[in-house]
Amino acid sequence: MKKNLDVMFMFDGQDELRKKEFPQLMNRVWLSSAAFTPHAKSVVEAMNQFIDYFHNPTIGKDVQELFESVNNGTYDGAAKLLKCNPEDISLIINTAHGLNFPLHGLDWEKGDNVVTSELEFPTNYLPWKYISKRKNVEFRAAKINEKLQISEDEIISLIDEKTKLVSLSLVQFNNGQRVDAKKIAKVAHENGALVALDAIQACGGVEVYPKEMDVDFVSAGGAKTLMAPLGIGVCYISPRALETIEPPLQGTGNYDFKDQNWMDRNKSYHKGAKRFENGTVPFYCVAGLKAALELINSVGIETVAKHNHGLIQQLIEGIVDQGLTTITPHEPERRGALINVRLDEKKDLKKIVEILEEKYKVTVTNRFGGLRFSAQLYNTENDIQTALSSLKEVLAKV
Ligand SMILES: Cc1ncc(COP(=O)(O)O)c(C=O)c1O
Repeated sequence: MKKNLDVMFMFDGQDELRKKEFPQLMNRVWLSSAAFTPHAKSVVEAMNQFIDYFHNPTIGKDVQELFESVNNGTYDGAAKLLKCNPEDISLIINTAHGLNFPLHGLDWEKGDNVVTSELEFPTNYLPWKYISKRKNVEFRAAKINEKLQISEDEIISLIDEKTKLVSLSLVQFNNGQRVDAKKIAKVAHENGALVALDAIQACGGVEVYPKEMDVDFVSAGGAKTLMAPLGIGVCYISPRALETIEPPLQGTGNYDFKDQNWMDRNKSYHKGAKRFENGTVPFYCVAGLKAALELINSVGIETVAKHNHGLIQQLIEGIVDQGLTTITPHEPERRGALINVRLDEKKDLKKIVEILEEKYKVTVTNRFGGLRFSAQLYNTENDIQTALSSLKEVLAKV
């Protein structure tokens, strides 16, 4: 069944890429990139090489060159993915890390407000509750509506001249909804507020272009659609935010010590977003992140996004054919690379996920009262058909 012929389900070279990079997925269906992504071979090899290097007692010798080559490749790879400059990127260890830059860097005053939504993952909700209590800042969250989505108009209606920050997930972890960040950012900036995006469910799976959206922080931990190791990620920081916010986490890393004159107490910050890195980051993971970025960029994020949208479209059509519904918007521009499928309330979701895994080798996640299916570049049309037919069989029994 291929109703929508405009969508592309595969891309040139996918078969070879799957065999080379994801041999562990050849006999199973992994539709759970929104939870984790099994590491590609090149990611594991890049980390192993780094670890081997540090096993050696000759580490001191070329260490600077090694750091530089891994580092530069990572900033360049992230910049290519996000269509920005390498200087706009700061390495972070998790999504919360990047969101903590505005959290602790903004000059919050009593009476200010912060705008978010009730749909958010705790990472993009609890920190704003915290600051609201600590600094007497008003916490404003758009409600979850009857479609189990949030309304961009409601978010916009919460923004006023006292708003300091609007912080949203670009793609929500639960219903897969993608917000129109550009539209929201325009209103936020007109009111003097900055905009932060939690993009862990978007980066690497769909197009995320901070400059086009004109947002200020885009924070994404690596372990999901970025296909990178746990414990590393990327944060885009806009020139506007660099002007407004001083790095709240301080150390040696914020400053330009290229000359290694460690006793110089008057160093300036690094030129761009790197000034937000305050010290050593998990370099083994950076090596893996670099390899993951190279992998995505070798296909091209436009192709990856088109591929993922096509697979999700195919899933939606199959789900509707089975008389089921989703709480995910059906328009490609309003969703990421994941959908949340609703079943009869009496069905035992946990059991269904277990049977899909054990009997059919189909991995999906139980989230927000539904089944979450999330695609990435290693998935095929066959995966989708297997997932759909397996689900049909399970639902006939459970
Ligand atoms: C939307 C979203 N934000 C953040 C996270 C995780 O946050 P962190 O990278 O800070 O651990 C998740 C993980 O499931 C998520 O889905």
